[in-house]
Amino acid sequence: MKKYPLITRLLHWVTALLVIALFFSGWYMVQLDYYHPWYHKLPELHIVTGLLLALLWLLVLSRLFLPKVKFNQNHPFLERLLSQIVKWLFYLTVSIMVISGYLMSTASGEAFVLLNLIKIPAVSHFSAAQIDNLGLIHEYTSYTIMLLLGFHIIGAFKHHFFDKDNTLKHML
Ligand code: HEM
Ligand code: HEM
Repeated sequence: MKKYPLITRLLHWVTALLVIALFFSGWYMVQLDYYHPWYHKLPELHIVTGLLLALLWLLVLSRLFLPKVKFNQNHPFLERLLSQIVKWLFYLTVSIMVISGYLMSTASGEAFVLLNLIKIPAVSHFSAAQIDNLGLIHEYTSYTIMLLLGFHIIGAFKHHFFDKDNTLKHML
């Protein structure tokens, strides 16, 4: 059976894992109180993981310009349309997360020093109100991603368990 190229599959599963880990770490870290041992560590870990995702995401996006293996051409029109919509919304929303996350981390206008090692330069300084808005964009986009993920998983499982076709196996 033909599958997606190994690099596509690896990028898909590693980025999927990072997005899910970032969602739960982000959601948890903003609820910690100041005296919690993870109060400083978890946001830093969130940002390191986020930057790793940003690098891999650039690879994912750049591969959109390469010719593609085409599967699922015989699926009903509505299913193909829905899966395309979810896929393009993933490209859009994950990009918004990476950009808003980066802008928040460097909002003071100063480079962000990661793990005392890597300097992430800032593009601009943002006011408190602008940071709040970036935070809201980041928060609501992350909920949108989880909703998309729900549709995406339902689609993948429908093909695997009900239609018993190779849609999921192409990606494994
Ligand atoms: C947040 C996590 C995830 C993101 C951002 C994501 C994103 C994507 C994207 C952008 C594609 C299109 C790839 C391409 O056309 O080259 C894709 C395909 C696919 N994903 Fe995910 N995915 C995630 C999680 C999952 C999970 C958990 C499953 C399985 C349960 C899954 C199963 C699949 C399958 C089967 C395909 C191939 C669909 C097809 O051939 O049309 N994904 N995913
Ligand atoms: C798809 C990837 C990502 C997901 C799903 C995600 C998820 C989240 C969530 C759920 C929150 C908590 C929002 C709230 O309730 O206020 C959060 C906060 C935050 N994230 Fe992310 N994040 C992602 C990527 C990034 C990246 C790439 C960076 C930085 C480079 C980043 C930096 C931050 C920062 C600084 C906060 C704290 C905002 C605050 O204090 O309100 N995130 N993230």
